[in-house]
Amino acid sequence: MSSKDHTESEIWREDNGKELEQIEIELLLEGIHRFYGYDFRNYAIPSLRRRIWHHVHAEGVQTISALQNKVLHDRECFQRLVYNLSIPVTEMFRDPNLFLTFRQKVVPLLRTYPYIRIWHAGCSTGEEVYSMAILLHEEGLFEKSRIYATDMNSRSLQQAKEGVFDIRRMKQYTKNYMEAGGTRSFSEYYTAKYNSVIFQPFLKKNMIFAEHNLATDRSFNEFNVIFCRNVMIYFNDELRNHVHGLFHESLSHFGILVLGAKESIHFTDYSDSYEALDRVEKIYRKIN
Ligand SMILES: C[S@@+](CC[C@H](N)C(=O)[O-])C[C@H]1O[C@@H](n2cnc3c(N)ncnc32)[C@H](O)[C@@H]1O
Repeated sequence: MSSKDHTESEIWREDNGKELEQIEIELLLEGIHRFYGYDFRNYAIPSLRRRIWHHVHAEGVQTISALQNKVLHDRECFQRLVYNLSIPVTEMFRDPNLFLTFRQKVVPLLRTYPYIRIWHAGCSTGEEVYSMAILLHEEGLFEKSRIYATDMNSRSLQQAKEGVFDIRRMKQYTKNYMEAGGTRSFSEYYTAKYNSVIFQPFLKKNMIFAEHNLATDRSFNEFNVIFCRNVMIYFNDELRNHVHGLFHESLSHFGILVLGAKESIHFTDYSDSYEALDRVEKIYRKIN
């Protein structure tokens, strides 16, 4: 065999390997959708692929097809995969400048409303939701607010409902809180117990937690503000457009949409439906 043949056969194997991997991923996602009703078929491939391979190794199997077999026959394996694919990474007052800008530019608008409905879509373990409750409390708006916090990941939601967080993260959260324009001592909002902190129960009073999947579930209310940060970054263009449709339908006129630092309304079908209240912090206002 010449070195040219060798290279060609390697390329052939590599191309076939990629094609086979693509088929195996599609079959896995199709099986999950048909059997469990969770739809990951329109998630962006690069990060999905990485996470699936991570899970193949974590489950001690060799191939994506073997993982498919295990996932379809073992519900707990499926639940571990959902947790892994959902990337439940978050923090309190994440991107502090966004929360500062929200205080400065959105709070004055919210003051004029008789009541306020806020939806945190993809709230993960709830840090963003408790941050919002604290902000509204300090601005005197908490009593007339309802905060709806949803996620597809039931394990994360359970943690969010409990409002118990790791004490080791409080140093970073206190720093974020101060940078986000916090007006009190952050420790007023929690009680330490062993290695955890429990947030003050009054913060939960106006929070409603529910399982909701942005890929498959419909709109369930009308909102003045929707936060959906660091969620659509994992979706492909088709799913992103679908979710923007859902948000557009769910926002009241002049409703506020807040996206993550790496996300944008541009290059979606809804780019003309919003004006930027703050382009840098990704705060948009629905105008039509
Ligand atoms: C990286 S976390 C972002 C949490 C928080 N919004 C933040 O920015 O800190 C992404 C969250 O989106 C959720 N998520 C992913 N796909 C979803 C879907 N189709 N429907 C609802 N939530 C989803 C995940 O379960 C995860 O909790």
